[in-house]
Amino acid sequence: MDNIVADVDWGIVARIVHVLAVVVWIGGVWFVTAVILPAMRKKPPEQWLAEFNAVERRFAPQARIAILLVLLSGLYMLYQYDLWDRFSDARYWWMHLMVVVWILFAALLFVLEPLIVHRVIDRRASSSPEATLTLMLRFHRVMLALALLAILAAVGGAHGLF
Ligand code: HEM
Repeated sequence: MDNIVADVDWGIVARIVHVLAVVVWIGGVWFVTAVILPAMRKKPPEQWLAEFNAVERRFAPQARIAILLVLLSGLYMLYQYDLWDRFSDARYWWMHLMVVVWILFAALLFVLEPLIVHRVIDRRASSSPEATLTLMLRFHRVMLALALLAILAAVGGAHGLF
């Protein structure tokens, strides 16, 4: 039993956790951006706001867990493979991109969303619902594009494409 545990390459386990957590988290962002929000366009404001809040209230805690797992597994890989000095080398721009995308989403999910985003959306949605929905859709598209770019760059970088 001791040997089995000692023989496990925990760096690979961390990589599996990292990728699975990214799939859950960014897959959810894709679904909200490409499916939920566009579908809301056809509904009256009171209805779409209530439905969007209900979807969001379910997804946010799951996304928070996933984003924490991405951090822990990423830090573990940095430690296990001793990759810290990559952050002082511009050739590893894709490592910087991963961290920047992580910080943006973490700030949004852990700070901005609980503190101000809901209040602002609720207030704006009652005065100008269509403009609010368009803004939310635009914002989600930008965040999704950044996340997809980070995935593309990280897989390419980790497997020697650049
Ligand atoms: C603080 C945040 C993060 C840290 C510390 C981190 C760290 C790492 C490390 C050390 C690797 C392995 C690199 C290598 O094998 O050369 C990696 C791979 C990867 N990361 Fe991150 N990461 C973070 C955030 C993210 C984010 C936000 C995403 C996606 C949106 C992401 C997606 C990936 C992917 C797809 C891989 C490649 C896995 C593979 O193909 O083997 N990471 N990350």
